[in-house]
Amino acid sequence: MLIAIDGPAASGKGTLARRLAAHYGLRHLDTGLTYRGVAKTLLDTGRPLDDEAVAEEAARALDLGALDRAVLSAHGIGEAASKVAVMPSVRRVLVDKQRAFAAAPPGAVLDGRDIGTVVCPDADVKLYVIATAAVRATRRWREIEAAGGSADYAGILADIERRDARDTERAASPMRPAEDAHLLDTSEMDIETAFRAASAVIDARR
Ligand code: C5P
Repeated sequence: MLIAIDGPAASGKGTLARRLAAHYGLRHLDTGLTYRGVAKTLLDTGRPLDDEAVAEEAARALDLGALDRAVLSAHGIGEAASKVAVMPSVRRVLVDKQRAFAAAPPGAVLDGRDIGTVVCPDADVKLYVIATAAVRATRRWREIEAAGGSADYAGILADIERRDARDTERAASPMRPAEDAHLLDTSEMDIETAFRAASAVIDARR
């Protein structure tokens, strides 16, 4: 079974994808980490984020098994990732790796922006997870505060809106729901409710 989950930053798709993978005994790939991994290489080596040749090389060298979520989730890397994600050559290399991951048994849950439309158009179930920008900014704000940091709500909201715009307006694989995606609005749902709604959709299609 192959489950494709797309949606904007902080929509809850990552947590949902992990829960669903554990529940159905599937492997899980957060494809955002692959774009973050490429961005981090450029940041670490002081290269400009639009250096396509170096970014493509970094994408080729990327090992999906070695993506460190704790390091790559750092604030700032998401913004840089959305810049490297506009480059078609980077996307081509990463999409090949993501498809190879998806094809291996016993099946997988992939989450990102273009899984249902480009990476796995034949997925058994496609979910498109949304929530208002204000709700998403509040979730991020709470996460940072809960981790002992101090966060600026207005800055987080601006960051989310800027990233949404870059992801939906780019020419290469813009973020959008697949025609056969099931829309899940988590604005007023906690993770448990979202999980139950998603598994109802999946169980109905199995
Ligand atoms: O999901 P996450 O916020 O970690 O993704 C970081 C960035 O990577 C996104 O803003 C988007 O630009 C890019 N991305 C993408 N396609 C994917 C996953 C992520 O373009 N499938």
